[in-house]
Amino acid sequence: MDKLLRDELYQQARNWILEAGSTIRNKINDPLDVSTKSNPNDLVTSMDKNTEKYFVEKIKTTYPDHLLLSEEGFGDDIRSLDGIVWIIDPIDGTMNFVQQKRNFAISIGIYHNGIGEIGLIYNVMDDILYHAKRGEGAFRDEVKLAPLKKGQVLEESVIGLNHLWLCQNRLVQEQSMQSLVKTVRGTRTYGSAALEFAYVAEGIVEAYITMSLAPWDIAAGIILVNEVGGITTDIDGNQLNMVDKNPVLTCHPDIHQRIVAEFIQKGRK
Ligand code: IPD
Ligand code: CA
Ligand code: CA
Repeated sequence: MDKLLRDELYQQARNWILEAGSTIRNKINDPLDVSTKSNPNDLVTSMDKNTEKYFVEKIKTTYPDHLLLSEEGFGDDIRSLDGIVWIIDPIDGTMNFVQQKRNFAISIGIYHNGIGEIGLIYNVMDDILYHAKRGEGAFRDEVKLAPLKKGQVLEESVIGLNHLWLCQNRLVQEQSMQSLVKTVRGTRTYGSAALEFAYVAEGIVEAYITMSLAPWDIAAGIILVNEVGGITTDIDGNQLNMVDKNPVLTCHPDIHQRIVAEFIQKGRK
């Protein structure tokens, strides 16, 4: 993708994400229509659907040849990342949105023939925009994020993970995950994969590990983390399949190999 087009798409996406966020903030106390999807804790609201519809309408009107991969089903049925694809999570952290009215984000990744070109993660209630264009660094609002510092060790790292994986994990032995928790300095669970990626890029969390994420959870975050020198792979260290669900590890490059070899592969079921 040439720079002119990348700059134009970035500007559009930035305007739309800020506008969508402002709409959500204005309606944050309106009555919500909440329903469940795959299980009783997998929530979706009218706000998730309306926000996704807003992006679909904007993108399809402005760029009719672009494709859209999004969570709530208003996008295209996509089997590959050929062409220009907008990968969107209208609300990442819906449980936080419903229960806390904060700690959720809108996530937009724009890919061209499989290459991540633009990533935006908008923490709506805090009005903080994480953004990146490929090759131009990552930013938190107007502040450029520093490259991840060399010399990171696991024992001094804070890692993001879902506590469920410590007691119920179909991929890695629970004992192995527990031993990872005992090794690191601390753990955090923020409840929004997109924000966890943004925190890895910001260098306030050194890794985020999870057993199943969809493309819209990670599309923007991968680009941000990449821009500061971080790595994102599946939990075995392999490349991700960007049109399917994956177990995901995003982290500081110095601790990637050790997490994979010592805590995941040794404990792989
Ligand atoms: C979820 C959040 C959550 C993660 C889940 C995701 P949603 O996305 O990112 O932190 O643990 O795996 O599905 O459903 O709120 O968009
Ligand atoms: Ca999500
Ligand atoms: Ca979502």
